[in-house]
Amino acid sequence: MKIGIVGCGFVADYYMLTLANHPALELVGAYDRDPAARERFGRFFGVPMFDSLEALLAAPGLECVLNLTNPSSHYAVSRTALLSGCHVYSEKPLAMRVEDAEDLVRLAKERDLLLAAAPCSYLGEAAQALGRAIEAGRVGKVRLVYAEMEDGMVFRENHRDWKAPSGAPWPARDEFAVGATLEHAGYYLSWLCAFFGPVTEMTAFAARCFDDKGTGQAPGELANDLSVSCLRFASGVVARLSCGLAAPKDRSLHVIGTDGILSLSEAWDYASPIYERDVMGHWQSRPKILGKIVRRVERGLPLRHWFGRRLTYERGEAKVPGTSSRMDFARGPAALARAAAAGEPLDFGADFALHITELALVAQNAETYQMPYRPRSSFAWPAASASAGAQALQDGKGGDRVGERHDVAAGQAAV
Ligand SMILES: NC(=O)c1ccc[n+]([C@@H]2O[C@H](COP(=O)([O-])OP(=O)(O)OC[C@H]3O[C@@H](n4cnc5c(N)ncnc54)[C@H](O)[C@@H]3O)[C@@H](O)[C@H]2O)c1
Repeated sequence: MKIGIVGCGFVADYYMLTLANHPALELVGAYDRDPAARERFGRFFGVPMFDSLEALLAAPGLECVLNLTNPSSHYAVSRTALLSGCHVYSEKPLAMRVEDAEDLVRLAKERDLLLAAAPCSYLGEAAQALGRAIEAGRVGKVRLVYAEMEDGMVFRENHRDWKAPSGAPWPARDEFAVGATLEHAGYYLSWLCAFFGPVTEMTAFAARCFDDKGTGQAPGELANDLSVSCLRFASGVVARLSCGLAAPKDRSLHVIGTDGILSLSEAWDYASPIYERDVMGHWQSRPKILGKIVRRVERGLPLRHWFGRRLTYERGEAKVPGTSSRMDFARGPAALARAAAAGEPLDFGADFALHITELALVAQNAETYQMPYRPRSSFAWPAASASAGAQALQDGKGGDRVGERHDVAAGQAAV
């Protein structure tokens, strides 16, 4: 599929670094409204650069736009791309207003175009392995999930020195203005919705805990830097998701079932360890004495989350950035390209992206919504191909090949 990139900042490097994992994606060129970014990106990656969005959209054969602009530009850029007849894969969120995200979904459907949004980390090996373990009943019936997206005080770190390989600076001001929840909630929201279905009800709380982020921005220019959301999913599972820029860094996930707990260490690592623990959160060692020793050690060390039997799963071969974001960013656009080539809808396409966007917007700006909040968006679940995926797993054909779509939602209706 011929793709064009709009927005050549920090995250665009991550897409460029992972594009080679997906030979079906052919980059036609890129555009950024900032001439300096255009020059830097074109020079570093040797990519043809266009002088305007219109010029890029007019490139012969262009089929899909990767919208990697700042969130405030997502709606306008995606809308223009859809109107020009291109499929769109957008960075998160789809738009900064639910109404705008709905408009994009309507436009895409009217024009029979595919629309999807990052994050695509539910396609990562760790998320897929976790989904299969849940599906296989490894912890019995799932009742509750605790999901942490705590980034620590990044505003106290030396983020002015953070640069992508091309030299693009980390956009601190934009990150703090958009908010940690809109930036990060989508990671676990997309996993949980893929596993447990759409959210039917949520109660969220959000606050701005730090008025000075060291960027010279007035407090009114800064978004809430903490949110806690309690979510009820269509399957009946409930979850608590916290997103913040203050509590110590923690991007773990704990899936609590009737017979045990699955704990994943790091949302942003496609090869994250996953541990199986008993219902009390302990490692169940076959020789019981070992479990007792570990429990004694745990009392004195802050390690209790991480003791458990390590779940084995096949690691992918995809190249990922050697940063804290060890994810194959181009896997989402590649899934879209496969669906477009097959003339099929995307399992986690426009409706899914709209739902995740709505949930993240409500969590980010919780004080402006009446709680409990019932989302107006939803998506078909389990995904159409989920039953086929489940069948393949039952038949023993389910493998973990890089770039291959796995169906984590299968079977969850029974949870
Ligand atoms: N920074 C990260 O680590 C990171 C990680 C994952 C996802 N993201 C997401 O990626 C997106 C971009 O973030 P970023 O960190 O690359 O920001 P950035 O500011 O570094 O880059 C965005 C680029 O888009 C350009 N741009 C903005 N509006 C435009 C428009 N209308 N037309 C053309 N170009 C336009 C800007 O000039 C800038 O060069 C955001 O949605 C963010 O949530 C960022």
